[in-house]
Amino acid sequence: MSQQNTVNAVEWHDGSLLLLDQRLLPQCEQYIEYRDAPAVAEAITSMVVRGAPAIGIAAAYGVVLSIAQHYNSEENAWRQKVAEDISLLRDSRPTAVNLMWALDQMEQLLILLPSGENPVLASLRCAVDIHDSDRRNNYLMGDLAVDAISQLSGSSRQVFMTHCNAGALATGGYGTALGVIRSAWRAGILERVYMDETRPWLQGTRLTAWELLREGIPAVLNADGAAGHILRDKGVSWIVVGADRIAANGDVANKIGTYGLAVLARYHGARVMVVAPSSTIDMSISCGKQIPIEERDGDELLRMNGQMLGVEGCPVTNPVFDVTTADLVDVLVTEKGVLHKPDTGSMAVLMASS
Ligand code: MRU
Repeated sequence: MSQQNTVNAVEWHDGSLLLLDQRLLPQCEQYIEYRDAPAVAEAITSMVVRGAPAIGIAAAYGVVLSIAQHYNSEENAWRQKVAEDISLLRDSRPTAVNLMWALDQMEQLLILLPSGENPVLASLRCAVDIHDSDRRNNYLMGDLAVDAISQLSGSSRQVFMTHCNAGALATGGYGTALGVIRSAWRAGILERVYMDETRPWLQGTRLTAWELLREGIPAVLNADGAAGHILRDKGVSWIVVGADRIAANGDVANKIGTYGLAVLARYHGARVMVVAPSSTIDMSISCGKQIPIEERDGDELLRMNGQMLGVEGCPVTNPVFDVTTADLVDVLVTEKGVLHKPDTGSMAVLMASS
């Protein structure tokens, strides 16, 4: 299917990194300019940029900024400074493995850099390649997912539900889950998509709704707690979500609430489709129990726009991801291919393929 331009969350322009401040959307479309890696790490932690592939891409450009700042003739000194910046970037968020994957690529490039080659230019080529290949993978996954849905559900229009934002804003462009929704709409097999609001950052209300409605895709917002009711009464046949990290056995970490949705889907006979590039797959961990789950500040639940709405001092737990075990995943779509009911064996074969 032909490619489609979507909003850019991350841009490289004239030696600096531009990030669309996603905290302000949809009210305000404002890019912030970054010129050093510590500021990029802070942008990732504070959710200026978010979504697993997008933070990996931003971090890769952060390494380019670091090299551009520190590179000089004293070989060991600049490499030490860049290593410190990479470590800051690595610690900026813990769950999305695309971040570590992208930084590993940049580190590898520096280790293998032929003598005489300019590290600034070489690292920029590598970051641009990470960015472009993520976008290309999303188009490919859109096509693969449309085929899988048509095979399992026929050519009639389907009702989807999605959670969080796995769109252009969360990736190098087009999106993973939202890429599938875009492709399904263009293929004529989507009737409507329900969007969970996704507390507490409201990625559904603010970001997914913004991306889909401006393209005329029939999308309806619902409170997170309404999902069970909608699954029972509104003919939802597919839950389509992205992922932050997938373990070697197919267990999937994604935005908090995904696990609950997958359990509801099983009860109500809807299928669960996870859409993620292979850079989201972490073959070094055998199962989801080993995935570090980010806990964020309790104020994210107690306050809104800085204003206290809860009870001052109320104990809060705020895990922002959960793990959906592989037995609840019907279809995993990657750019390397599609797995039905992923498990350790099929994951290993998929990851060994080119
Ligand atoms: O906390 P966020 O907004 O970074 O969480 C994002 C998600 O959970 C997405 O579903 C995931 O990163 C996949 S994005 C293609």
